[in-house]
Amino acid sequence: MRLFIGIPLAVGVAEELAALAERLKSPSDGLRWSASAGWHITLQFLGKTSMEQYACLVPGLRQIRFSPFTIQLEPPGFFDRAGVFFAGVGLSPQLIRLQELVVAATGLCGFVPEDRPYHPHITLARTKGGRSALAALKPRIGDVKSFSGFTAREFLIYESFPGPGGSRYEKRDHFVLGENQTNSENTSM
Ligand code: 2AM
Repeated sequence: MRLFIGIPLAVGVAEELAALAERLKSPSDGLRWSASAGWHITLQFLGKTSMEQYACLVPGLRQIRFSPFTIQLEPPGFFDRAGVFFAGVGLSPQLIRLQELVVAATGLCGFVPEDRPYHPHITLARTKGGRSALAALKPRIGDVKSFSGFTAREFLIYESFPGPGGSRYEKRDHFVLGENQTNSENTSM
């Protein structure tokens, strides 16, 4: 199975991003817009995962002690080379720390962390090929006021099912921040 770990969006902020996507979408825009129900902030992409690794992963992630924390969104941006249009996410100390804890837990199950810096984001659309679709989108975005922040209360293991129309994501397991955890090393965060 193909897995990743991420934080789902709160309903309110997903609605704000959906309104932006609806305004920008057009039938011949050359973009594949992601389904709002699957919007998330990736903490770690795991890729191909064996059942043995999965059995290791869940108890390891369950041991993470972390309090709910605020996630701030930032204006939209682009990964030009990858052909991605995204909503930015503030790189707060809490998000960095949670990402580090997740990477440390998965490392015990044989997952190797990426060597590129962590750049949290919410992918809204991908080009179907070539860079012209992003070039055409950029001037249409206009002056986007900032989006609402939200409180991250859980993170999930998602399974990704790649398909011709883009990947479909299903939730496989969830990990509550704060509640159901014996304590938090981050209560001051
Ligand atoms: P992206 O949206 O910017 O492509 C599932 O694919 C999630 O894992 C997406 O949020 C994706 O980010 C992220 N991801 C990170 N590294 C990836 C990789 N090497 N392959 C596929 N997805 C990756």
